[in-house]
Amino acid sequence: MRTFITIIAVCMAFALQSCDDGLIQEVQQHTPVSSGYTAVVTGTFKGQTSWPSRYSIVVAGFNENSDYAIIQKTLAAKNKDDKQIRMVLSNISDTTRTLEIAVVNSLRKRLVTLYSYAIPTNQDAKDTIRLDVGEMDISMFETINSNVFQGMNCSRCHSSSTAAAHLDLTNANAYMSIVNGQSSKNPDFMRIKPDDADSSYLYRVITTGTPEVGYNHPALFVDDKHAAFVSIIKNWIDNGAKK
Ligand code: HEC
Repeated sequence: MRTFITIIAVCMAFALQSCDDGLIQEVQQHTPVSSGYTAVVTGTFKGQTSWPSRYSIVVAGFNENSDYAIIQKTLAAKNKDDKQIRMVLSNISDTTRTLEIAVVNSLRKRLVTLYSYAIPTNQDAKDTIRLDVGEMDISMFETINSNVFQGMNCSRCHSSSTAAAHLDLTNANAYMSIVNGQSSKNPDFMRIKPDDADSSYLYRVITTGTPEVGYNHPALFVDDKHAAFVSIIKNWIDNGAKK
């Protein structure tokens, strides 16, 4: 018990962050397992600092009925690229169905799942879940690219072979095609003008729609999941549209 109190005191003295690095796990080892799982998540991340502060990248637990994290721990805001990160989540309740690396807003609402692990239904609460997510590019651009340009299959109409408006949104060409690329439907605009979403044609096409474009793009973004990307894209452009 004294060890326990000492460890808590040490943690408080050094603020929460230092608890991430193993001390909590020590508490777990010295006290009888009460309820809930412990998970140790390791991984190497790239591009985390491209996210503005309104978004948090977290390791979190969710159940299947809600987009709000039951339990979460935020990756330190200034994690350096390619540094191995180790996060410990303890007392994960057994209603938790997935452990995720996710982008959440200040209300802990999940906006994007970057990585998901389904906790097996026969998971033994005494066993620590060890999850190595490997190397992940979690930059804003890569998140938009994989979830929107590739994930929503924009390239079924915008590829080099079927390039509606001469726009190629395939994986290899998306960034080059849009950032500082002139709109072919309205050459007064850039498709993406860094730092200025409202003057970026792509942003106009997916939000208000544009009279010159004969396909209703805003309709692709009406559901909750895709609506979140409208503001993520706006923030990405307004923060310099970096790769
Ligand atoms: C069903 C086909 C279809 C899909 C899917 C589609 N688009 Fe389009 N898109 C069009 C058409 C058609 C135009 C206008 C072409 C024209 O009028 O010549 C267009 C035009 C555009 C333009 C204007 C480009 C310019 O240079 O002026 C942008 C930007 C755009 N689309 C983005 C997207 C994005 C992002 C997605 C995926 C979320 C997407 N589109 C999905 C059919 C599609």
